[in-house]
Amino acid sequence: MLLTETDIAEGIQDKYFLKFGTATREVVRVFRSPGRINLIGEHTDYNNGFVLPASVDKAVYFVIAPREDDQVILYAADLDQTYSFSLDDLSKPEKSWPHYQIGIVEQIQKKGLKIGGFQAAFGGNVPVGAGLSSSAALECCLLFALNEIYGLNLDRFSIVRMSQKAENEYVGVQCGIMDQFASAFGKEESVIRLDCRSLEYEYFPFPMNDYLIVLCDTLVKHSLASSEYNTRRQECEKATAILQQYDAKVLSLRDASPALVKQHKDEMGDVVYRRAKFITEEIQRVQDACDLLVQGSLPDFGKKMYATHFGLQNEYEVSCPELDFLVAQTLDDDSVLGARMMGGGFGGCTINLVKKEGVDAFEAKMKEAYLEKYKIDLPCYRVKITDGTEEVALA
Ligand code: GLA
Repeated sequence: MLLTETDIAEGIQDKYFLKFGTATREVVRVFRSPGRINLIGEHTDYNNGFVLPASVDKAVYFVIAPREDDQVILYAADLDQTYSFSLDDLSKPEKSWPHYQIGIVEQIQKKGLKIGGFQAAFGGNVPVGAGLSSSAALECCLLFALNEIYGLNLDRFSIVRMSQKAENEYVGVQCGIMDQFASAFGKEESVIRLDCRSLEYEYFPFPMNDYLIVLCDTLVKHSLASSEYNTRRQECEKATAILQQYDAKVLSLRDASPALVKQHKDEMGDVVYRRAKFITEEIQRVQDACDLLVQGSLPDFGKKMYATHFGLQNEYEVSCPELDFLVAQTLDDDSVLGARMMGGGFGGCTINLVKKEGVDAFEAKMKEAYLEKYKIDLPCYRVKITDGTEEVALA
């Protein structure tokens, strides 16, 4: 039986009461922050470009209450593990799951804001390491909750920026702003076109009557903190520095065209050139894809998704054999409009835009192929687009 979002939240609330007792029943509150998908625009966020994410019906939940002292007690309900620390000692534990929460507390303190201790049980159904950004969901959820509980007066933009900084400064991943933005600003049945430079954003209705979004999870765990993500960032900065010598207005790859990149190919060298080529093309692709969405040309939108995949595979080089295999399986499938790897890369999911009537056969075919090739039962998730970070009222 498939659990609803309410079932999951209630399950975590039950575990909270088992762990902490029922004395806080009057003050305990429940918050939810979703994982995200991204239709198109990959690795463009930290290049000040455009992205097209949405938040989905897989979320992180915090069941949380304030404490009288300055202790923080975190209970990871899914792992059945506890970690405690004091607000005046934010040293980094060896165990990695508390890094996100401590990073949030650190950002609050860096802003000069005051909170007291708290105790929380958290968990949810965002698959970890699958490219749905469970970490951003965790960060946004906790900061949103503390903002409400301690009246910090932070608006959603601040919650997004501080959550991103927690990841950059405490966790140590130089991620862009897309994941936190999508988790906090998501809207039911809409995708968000975000300009990562100005943070201007626009919602576009995503037509889900005839099509479904299906994620196929390679079960290859990406490790974003592993150097490759940060290396890609440095390669983009290198390209920017070279182009800037010729045009002072190029402050990031957002300001460069594929033609300008091509002109300076030799100076960049093969690797940096291919990175910059992909990014400048991808930024343009998001714009074009949005136009297609507005026109209702979903088949052409799907073609852009494939172009993104092949760029990520061959030029940006952040894919992996399992992702490439899954995308290749869809190429001759009439029920699939588009498919590509999603998120940071090196594992995680492919995102597939599939005709509704063909979705059962599609999943069966993908599972069979993956089983035969990798001896792995491929998880497929049909996702719905839901609202972003919010408080949840449970009965
Ligand atoms: C990860 C990062 C995001 C973004 C994507 C790639 O999810 O956290 O900021 O860069 O990779 O598009």
